This record gives sequence, structure tokens and C-alpha cells, in this order.
Amino acid sequence: MKKILVTGGLGYIGSHTVVALQERGFKVVVVDNLSNASIDVLVGIEAITGTAPEFERLELRDKSAVADFFREHQDLDGIIHFAASKAVGESVENPLLYYENNLHSLVYLLQNCIEHQIPNIIFSSSCTVYGEPDQLPITEQAPVKQATSPYGNTKQINEEILRDTCAASKLQAISLRYFNPIGAHKSAQIGELPVGVPQNLVPFITQTAAGIREKLWVFGNDYPTADGSCIRDYIHVVDLAEAHVVALQRLLQQQSEEAFEVFNVGTGKGSSVVEVIQAFEKTTGITLPYEVTDRRQGDVVSVYADTTKANNVLGWKAKKSMEEALASAWKWEQQIRNQ
Ligand code: UD1
Repeated sequence: MKKILVTGGLGYIGSHTVVALQERGFKVVVVDNLSNASIDVLVGIEAITGTAPEFERLELRDKSAVADFFREHQDLDGIIHFAASKAVGESVENPLLYYENNLHSLVYLLQNCIEHQIPNIIFSSSCTVYGEPDQLPITEQAPVKQATSPYGNTKQINEEILRDTCAASKLQAISLRYFNPIGAHKSAQIGELPVGVPQNLVPFITQTAAGIREKLWVFGNDYPTADGSCIRDYIHVVDLAEAHVVALQRLLQQQSEEAFEVFNVGTGKGSSVVEVIQAFEKTTGITLPYEVTDRRQGDVVSVYADTTKANNVLGWKAKKSMEEALASAWKWEQQIRNQ
């Protein structure tokens, strides 16, 4: 049985990936500093899979604590690294927090990978590395553009750290560039748990539908798109979790063509903000109060993935629909309100 370390495994994408790994027979060790996740997520994972993963509260910024952890866990076959700060606006206000947290954690993990000969790592990257793309859909060959936020910059730098480390060692890495993950596990046992006012569209929609927010603000309707709102590639988090399992198997079976590989993980379909609202209303039967306001600083007009490489090379494809994702997000929102 292969043993996999999942950092940030109690977070939104991490928890869904732990479920997917356990369902495929992997033994999972989760570390999380609980800065943006609840320990109760372990209960949700156990309710779905019948097994709670081994868990340790660990601060990845603490070099000696990370070294201690690896000394005690000599039998790891690979790492999936989710643990990171992820709020774009916060990163603009507090860049050093982002550089410290997101860069140190990867460097310390990699030092230990090399010391303890753990050759496989999957990294949580983002389509934000492409900035405002010149061509749509975006392929992995598209240039990495000057980052528009420290958060985005940490993703770019982390990819460079991985590329350089792979070139200088036996490490193999896969960087998954996520588009916009939404939805929750169909059981509603795990899902997204935003702290405070949600920054992302779908949690804001579900909180508005639940009456926690008065209305949804649509950030701009004067973009050069059909209905004037921005276009994104929204991917069901369960499909995204599955991509990690497939990427891990590629590493474990030594199928990589290059030591450092990147894959877009999206659906390939772009949807506007207004289309997401309409899909939510149609799926749930709820009329969502919303109003258009100014553009949000830093938003790009349109991004959606060319998924050919992930489809053909990784053998992975998103299967779930926008409606399924929104229905699961709404079920999850209702479930957390009823607790
Ligand atoms: C961005 C990054 C993504 C990063 C994520 C972290 C890009 C292309 N994407 O996602 O890599 O991981 O931040 O948070 O840089 N919207 C509203 N009203 C709201 C909230 C959002 O209209 O209340 C709109 C936004 O303007 C945007 C869309 O909904 O057009 C999606 O926004 P959001 O969910 O925040 O994700 P991104 O900004 O695309």
C-alpha cells in the first residue's frame, strides 16, 4: 500500500483529494496547520471513506518541525502539496506573509524529499500563472506572464523551484494548474469552508441564497464578452481531486516524459458570471438577488483551459457538469447551516 503525504489535506481541494486517494487504496498522512481549515474535516472524510487519515498538525514554515516530521515518517512514497495561503487580495496587502508561507513550505518539503529519497511530488498551481492570456483556450505552452499579485507570483516561483530541483536531483514533479474549482462532495460531508466574507464567486452565491449575504455583486458587466461579465473555467472539485490521483499514478509508475511536467486542470469550457448565476437559479429554483458593480481590480477578462494535454497524456477528463457542481455546493451550504 503506497503512503502519500497530503499537506493542507483538510482544506477544500486537499480534503476531496484525500477522499479520492483513500478510495483508491492509498494510505494517507495529512498535515495541516489549521490556519484555514477545521479539524472536523477529518470526521467528514471518515464518514465518506470509512477511514480517518493519519493527521498531524504541522507548521510547514518551521524548518526543524518539518525535518522532525520526515524523520518520523520514513516510508512515504509521494507528496501532494496543497498547503498555502490563497487569498489574492490578502496577498497584495501582506506580500511577505505569502512569500514566507508559500515559498518556505515548498523549499523545506523539497529538502526533505531529497534527504529521505521521496521522489514524487504534485504541486497545486493555478491558471493565474498565465495572467491575461493572448489566446483562448489556454494551452500549457502559453507564456507565464508577469504575476498580478504576490499570490500568483508564489505559484510561478514555486514552479521554478520545482523545475530547478527536478533538474538537479532525482525528483519528479507534476504541477497541476487549476482553473476555478467549485462544488462539494455529493455526500455534503466535506466542501468549501470560507472564513469570513467569501472572495470567490460560488461560495458568495450559496451564502446569498442562504440569506447570509443580502445580494451578490457582479464585478463588472462591461467586459468584452457576450454578456459583459468575466469568463472562467469552473471545474467540479471532485473531478479536480481525481486529477491528482491520476497524476500521482503517473509519477509512481514512472510514466513522466520529463522530470517536471505541468498540466492544465479545467473543463475546457468558459462560463460567464451571469451564466453561473443563471445555472444556479435553474438548478436550485432559487432566484438570486444580484446587482452589477464596478470591475474588481486584477480580474482578467476570460480564462479557460485547453485540456488536450491532460486528456491525452494524463488520461484524465472532467466528467461533471456545472449544474452538478452548483447543486452539490448548494447542498453543502445547507448542510453547514443546519449543523
Ligand atoms: C482567482 C485566480 C485563481 C486563484 C483564485 C484564488 C485567476 C484567473 N484566477 O480566481 O487562480 O486561485 O483567485 O481566490 O487569476 N465574482 C463576482 N462577484 C463575487 C465574486 C467573484 O462577480 O462576489 C466574479 C469575479 O469577478 C470573476 C469570477 O466571479 O470574474 C470568479 O471569481 P473568483 O471566484 O474570485 O475566482 P478568480 O478571481 O477567477
